[in-house]
Amino acid sequence: MKKMLIINGPNLNMLGQREPEVYGKETLDDLIQYTEAKINGTVKLDWYQSNLEGELVTRIQKACSEDFDAVIINPGGYAHTSVAIHDALKILKIPVIEVHLSQVYKREEFRHTLLTAKAATAIMTGFGKQTYYVAINSQLH
Ligand code: DQA
Repeated sequence: MKKMLIINGPNLNMLGQREPEVYGKETLDDLIQYTEAKINGTVKLDWYQSNLEGELVTRIQKACSEDFDAVIINPGGYAHTSVAIHDALKILKIPVIEVHLSQVYKREEFRHTLLTAKAATAIMTGFGKQTYYVAINSQLH
């Protein structure tokens, strides 16, 4: 069975309370349950969330010696700024899918620069609740 690591960065733990008109009313736990129900045991998912840049870097580094088939990452606001997360992602030898729940190119200009995405195999933006499910499926075949 394939194994994937799903990393969520800062403020994604506040989904549900955070700008529901942009991100929807579901919490991160709701999205996890929704995704797990959709994949129905066909992929092993390891979910990780942190608000801290260094912790995200450390989790990515740890994944370099684990046996994941892919990493799916929503770096949150760090997508626009973090050289450190970009550099950590570059070390991985497996596909990295960067995801954003909202369609960042329809939003403020500062969200149009995706720095970490330069280290990603593929990016997805604007799939909302379907985000993690679509990203997982992209790595199954
Ligand atoms: C986000 C988009 C980012 O610009 C923002 O800072 C987030 C969430 C998204 O999932 O749409 O925290 O990554």
